[in-house]
Amino acid sequence: MIVDDLVRTPAAVADAERWTAHNYHPLPVVISSAEGAWVTDIDGKRYLDCLAGYSALNFGHRHPTLVAAAHAQLDRLTLTSRAFVHDQFATFCRGLAELCGKDLVLPMNTGAEAIETAIKVSRKWGYKVKGVPDGAATIVVAAGNFHGRTTTIVSFSTDPDARNDYGPYTPGFRIVPYGDLEALAEAIDDTTVAVLLEPIQGEQGVIVPPPDYLPGVRALCTSQNVLFVADEIQSGLGRTGTTFACDHEGVVPDMYVLGKALGGGIVPVSAVAANADVLGVLRPGEHGSTFGGNPLACAVAAEVVALLKTGEYQQRSAELGKRLHADLSALIGHGVVAVRGRGLWAGVDIDPALMTGREACELLAERGVLAKDTHGSTIRLAPPLVVEPDELDWAVERLAAIL
Ligand SMILES: Cc1ncc(COP(=O)(O)O)c(C=O)c1O
Repeated sequence: MIVDDLVRTPAAVADAERWTAHNYHPLPVVISSAEGAWVTDIDGKRYLDCLAGYSALNFGHRHPTLVAAAHAQLDRLTLTSRAFVHDQFATFCRGLAELCGKDLVLPMNTGAEAIETAIKVSRKWGYKVKGVPDGAATIVVAAGNFHGRTTTIVSFSTDPDARNDYGPYTPGFRIVPYGDLEALAEAIDDTTVAVLLEPIQGEQGVIVPPPDYLPGVRALCTSQNVLFVADEIQSGLGRTGTTFACDHEGVVPDMYVLGKALGGGIVPVSAVAANADVLGVLRPGEHGSTFGGNPLACAVAAEVVALLKTGEYQQRSAELGKRLHADLSALIGHGVVAVRGRGLWAGVDIDPALMTGREACELLAERGVLAKDTHGSTIRLAPPLVVEPDELDWAVERLAAIL
């Protein structure tokens, strides 16, 4: 547990527990302000944020350009619904389409909504373009996936915590082992409209597939007339040292699914991006969202796109990522069993004989570093891309100290 000099924290934690459903098990840290890579709690203690909102805070907390864009937009126009066009919409959509190298984008709010959008568009494309018999469409997904929490999405989760007790489940999904091209090839048939994958599986513990996997998926999808849908919600937008994780293998999916960092850590913004032959299947009234593509979201997200177009954040992530992975690898055999990842994103397997991932995160929090455990003994490190080299070294020293 956290040190005793935290005076207001225990009561605030208890209060939060009292008034909410217990669908999370947060670390007992109550944050009240933040800037860049650092957060401060209600007792004035500072922490280096090495989770960064599961990569929603790639540009750090309250990036000045993004906050300025939000303030300016708050003073002009915040919501229209898509019943009308607003003056921020085209700028954002064009910028994101260009960043993705695609014809069109469709903005939504949360990652799960964008995945639902990708599923619907893929099915419709399958019926209208590929010629799959009505109601027969299948989508191939990977074991260990995490694509969100809706009833359809958890229908193809292999995590019992995410899936159990939420049936009846949505049919039409085939699950194959992640990284296994043969299994993927066997699962695809004439009814298959899409392969939906994370290019790096984040929630599963930052699992990087074999180097030939994504190119192999691309080749299979092309030869079988199946859409390759890349869930880059966590891996995309600079996190791995390139704009998209698929870029590392030179792979271009048919559809990008984006979220998290797209909202600059200020507003929820997600989107799918694809060419007109795919996204063009949607007609008015067939899909939408009241808040999707709202003026505030577009004003912030357009600046996020502009930040990414400079390439500065991708470069930071690539360079600092090398440092992070070198430092973490040096801990293998000293309390760490394995390290995976790319750029400023690492899954660190702690020796289960020493402690659980949760215990490691509690000890790190005591020492001023925020991280999140997953699947028993793994912790994930994903600091904001604005983190400084010495801060990164400091965090790894803290990890070494608790081990
Ligand atoms: C790869 C991936 N897809 C989808 C989602 C769901 O996003 P959201 O929580 O915004 O619905 C997440 C969230 O962690 C994710 O990591």
